[in-house]
Amino acid sequence: MSEFNCRTEILPPDAAGVARAAALLRAGDLVALPTETVYGLAGDARNAQAVATIYAAKGRPALNPLIVHVADLAAAEQLADLPPAALRVAHAFWPGPLTLVAPLRTGHGLAPAVTAGLATVALRVPEHALARAVLNAFGGPVAAPSANPSGRISPTSAAHVLAGLSGRIAAVLDGGACPVGVESTILGFENGTPVLLRAGGVSPEALAEVLGAAPIAAGGGKVTAPGQLPSHYAPRARMRLNAQAPAAGEIWIGFGPDCAGAELTLSATGDLDEAAARLFAVLHDADALGRAIAVAPVPERGLGVAINDRLRRAAAPR
Ligand code: TXA
Ligand code: MG
Repeated sequence: MSEFNCRTEILPPDAAGVARAAALLRAGDLVALPTETVYGLAGDARNAQAVATIYAAKGRPALNPLIVHVADLAAAEQLADLPPAALRVAHAFWPGPLTLVAPLRTGHGLAPAVTAGLATVALRVPEHALARAVLNAFGGPVAAPSANPSGRISPTSAAHVLAGLSGRIAAVLDGGACPVGVESTILGFENGTPVLLRAGGVSPEALAEVLGAAPIAAGGGKVTAPGQLPSHYAPRARMRLNAQAPAAGEIWIGFGPDCAGAELTLSATGDLDEAAARLFAVLHDADALGRAIAVAPVPERGLGVAINDRLRRAAAPR
């Protein structure tokens, strides 16, 4: 879009970079921040103009609400009424890769566009030291979707952010690679019962341990994550899943020691945490080669659940 034509600053991962990021947020500008999951495109969640610019910079549909990032549980409780099950998982997993959707509190002060007009808000307390430092320096709620053009592969490095959004945002705080690598797990609550809206960085097994049972799957009820479109995280190339071997011309992304011949691998040893951390970088690399992509099977447990969710969306027809 032609209204975007700025020089995107690359901020260093130190006190000066954090101070500059907070000052830009205060001025209503957008800054891409590293979190433990993926880079987020951050703006002041109380500033309607800043929030409008997030949607515009990403080309994000206005009906797809944003996640609000706060420094701690106390800040989250000023924005939403968290049911008991939400408080249990918040105590167990915050700060960390978990997002909770709960009813907005009166006087929340968020720009209405953050929640796309919904009566609920998605809240997360990130664990990444730089994200925490910026939240503390800024001192307020920060809306931050993943820092990629809408529908494209999520960014796990400052270079990924710049490839998609350079010239459209004020700055990126360069914190290196994101350690978890897949987005946060999103939990909603229906009559107090946890509903899994998106698989992510907290595994279903870890949630079940705290909740006593795995969260029920979204779909049947009225709680939905509007952003969960089938075609998402899409590389430009065609993608084929559960590929035991590449077909002619395909680039093969392996997983585990049985895929020794693969050009790229999510994890040579078959480590699911490593595979999650590498997933989007490997997809970015594969996409840059401009050939069709075949991906080896990934087990459906631990972070494999989130990995397979992203792979299915990346491979979905569009
Ligand atoms: O790890 C993450 O969650 C990253 C980092 C930056 O924090 N953020 C992220 O944001 O993945 P985004 O915008 O790419 O995904 C946000 C998801 C969307 O699927 C959206 O529909 C859902 O959260 N969401 C936001 N508010 C919601 C609400 N009130 N009810 C249901 N779903 C909501
Ligand atoms: Mg996203």
